[in-house]
Amino acid sequence: MICTEITRLNFSFLEKLKHIHRECFKDIIYSDSSYKNFLDKNIFRTYGIIDTSNDNLLAFIILTTNQNEADIVSIGVTKNFRRNGFAKSLIYFCIRKYYLKKIFLEVSVLNIEAISFYINLDFKKIGIRKNYYKDMLGNEIDSYMMCKNVPRETF
Ligand SMILES: CC(C)(COP(=O)(O)OP(=O)(O)OC[C@H]1O[C@@H](n2cnc3c(N)ncnc32)[C@H](O)[C@@H]1OP(=O)(O)O)[C@@H](O)C(=O)NCCC(=O)NCCS
Repeated sequence: MICTEITRLNFSFLEKLKHIHRECFKDIIYSDSSYKNFLDKNIFRTYGIIDTSNDNLLAFIILTTNQNEADIVSIGVTKNFRRNGFAKSLIYFCIRKYYLKKIFLEVSVLNIEAISFYINLDFKKIGIRKNYYKDMLGNEIDSYMMCKNVPRETF
């Protein structure tokens, strides 16, 4: 049994964030400056779940917020720690922290695991964007736009 906590990620987590992000998203290649931006408090809200015994980063969420609404830019959990409720707890942590009423995101139509995860959290498909993503081979992939209306009783 490990001991974990949710923490805001600062620049000291740059290498760990890069590592987990690359493990979760093989087809998405970001530049170093993009990863630095994700840790810039003025632009993004980036939180992680860390193993408190060694500061290993087990899961992360990157959000932008505007009043009571948020867009999930990215969320991921390292492979060995999936299905432990980590991603769900990061989303609920952010809902409570920023009093979120609505959350939006884009997800590849091929990412069945993530779609199942979002549907479990009561996100609804609200649209489809043609050719939103490109994989490593250059194939264009559609995305679903999804939205969660947060019920009042969550707070
Ligand atoms: C999608 C992802 C973030 C889910 O993280 P997680 O911590 O494993 O999810 P949770 O444990 O919080 O899941 C909560 C519930 O969502 C559903 N769920 C999660 N992963 C699922 C899967 N692979 N298949 C079916 N349902 C799933 C389950 O109902 C789960 O509850 P349960 O385990 O009690 O049945 C994780 O699989 C991941 O990092 N994937 C790669 C990166 C990615 O695709 N991110 C999303 C991009 S938009």
